[in-house]
Amino acid sequence: MTTAIYPGSFDPITYGHLDIIKRSSEVFDKVIVGVLKNQTKNPLFEFEERVEMIREVTKDYSNVEIASYHGLLVDFTKEMNADVIVRGIRAVSDFEYELMMAQTNKQLNPNIETMFFATSSRYSFLSSSTVRELAYFDGDITQFVPEYVSEKVYEKVKKMK
Ligand code: PNS
Repeated sequence: MTTAIYPGSFDPITYGHLDIIKRSSEVFDKVIVGVLKNQTKNPLFEFEERVEMIREVTKDYSNVEIASYHGLLVDFTKEMNADVIVRGIRAVSDFEYELMMAQTNKQLNPNIETMFFATSSRYSFLSSSTVRELAYFDGDITQFVPEYVSEKVYEKVKKMK
């Protein structure tokens, strides 16, 4: 049985993330969406809110679970008895950072493989930060995140203004 970790900050989860979750859930026996807790960045959503949104929008995937981690991704991956770290690559611009992360993680734990999914072209420009910014300036984010998430994002940015 192969278990994969799909790690990230998911602030908020987008259709791009969901695309990777769906496709990886078809490849691996189990996919654990790992939500990073100790972010140095200042997130829009509290950790619990991010987890709650992921839970809602992944509820139809029977082999997808959600878990949180703080500290090193390789330690979390080992803790969860996972074999693979999954990351999406949208464009060449992602590659340098992702390669550095994969190689660092491989050095830290040679038993864990990182596997990359090429993001579907329709989401190749999409990021959580774009969604946050669009929503802040009253742009339409409904094509980029599920309705459940867009309502939460609009609510949140309204409180910031
Ligand atoms: O979606 P993101 O924010 O690009 O995800 C980055 C993430 C959370 C996967 C990465 O920053 C992470 O796992 N950090 C935990 C600390 C760690 O393990 N660092 C060593 C890898 S270079």
